[in-house]
Amino acid sequence: MYVERFEEQLLRGDAAERPRGPQYLSRFERWDDLASVRRRPRRRFAAGEVELYFPPELYPVVRHPLVAAKGSTVVKGLLLQRLYDYLEFTTELETLAVIPVATKISRGRSGLHLPGRMMSDAYKIVTDEAWHAQFSHEFTCEIEAETRVPWSLRGSCAPSAFLLRLDEIRGRLPHDLRGVEGLLFGIVSETLISGMLSEIPRDDRLPLSVRNIIRDHAEDEGRHHVYFRSLLTHLWPALGRAEREAVGPLIPEIIYAFLEPDYAQTACHLRDIGLSGEQIDQAITESWPTDRVQSGVAVAAAQLTRYLEEVGALRDKGTLAAFEEAGLLGSAYEMPGGIYTKVAR
Ligand SMILES: [Fe+2]
Ligand SMILES: [Fe+2]
Repeated sequence: MYVERFEEQLLRGDAAERPRGPQYLSRFERWDDLASVRRRPRRRFAAGEVELYFPPELYPVVRHPLVAAKGSTVVKGLLLQRLYDYLEFTTELETLAVIPVATKISRGRSGLHLPGRMMSDAYKIVTDEAWHAQFSHEFTCEIEAETRVPWSLRGSCAPSAFLLRLDEIRGRLPHDLRGVEGLLFGIVSETLISGMLSEIPRDDRLPLSVRNIIRDHAEDEGRHHVYFRSLLTHLWPALGRAEREAVGPLIPEIIYAFLEPDYAQTACHLRDIGLSGEQIDQAITESWPTDRVQSGVAVAAAQLTRYLEEVGALRDKGTLAAFEEAGLLGSAYEMPGGIYTKVAR
């Protein structure tokens, strides 16, 4: 098993025979001076006068009449649970999705012919992500101790939705391409997470310690964003035509796997506040109507879609059709060299 794990590549085949990518410009030159694991204090949760634990705009179900009718204490409790979900999602994402991919890259087992500097920078990403996983989990424990409200999903619920979705996508890839979804999910999550993290630190309704911990994370993720954008410019040209045609149409699903809300987790929380099965379905469906989810995902992913266009990923008809069907192309999108709009259809 250990030798197998040593040899296993994310992308199979001889990396030396694949086309090489462009030059690599490292953003990790000053990592020792900038990385949060080196420079930021260990943030401690301090409740103080907590107005909100999580922005309700980012968790619209708390504004649904069936939920709001339960009263402001219940709503506040749900927002605390959402903060826990967010922190534990971060830990899950880092440990199960990003660290394994960055580790493979660092050990020269991505299956791509990458510049040496790019491989050694991957170690720094592993360290950053391990720190993010650690501080997010420890922060959860501190909030639980301070508020005496436990995270209701600990050990009791299904895996995070993104894991189930990724397994499903992997199952549809040809056997010899399994592993590529990990590289693509790394690119998707690492280029999108910095956007997700940017709003919360500015929200002064939230406890300062929560804003600080998310700000620390966001600063590291700015560097990761640039790295994984660069990884995309190495991955796409290295794929053969058949490989591109097989994986390209799955990219929209990988984007949704990361960005679409975790409805099952929300259903657990709504059950805990006493809603019936029917009420839970109604609250979830009405809080996240399909068209609004679709336009939200399109806006969040617009920059990544542009990166994919730049490397030529949307030149494949099947891939372009999948992006169109998933609602990821803005109305002003044109091929080739499309004009990109952030206003989703
Ligand atoms: Fe991270
Ligand atoms: Fe990251």
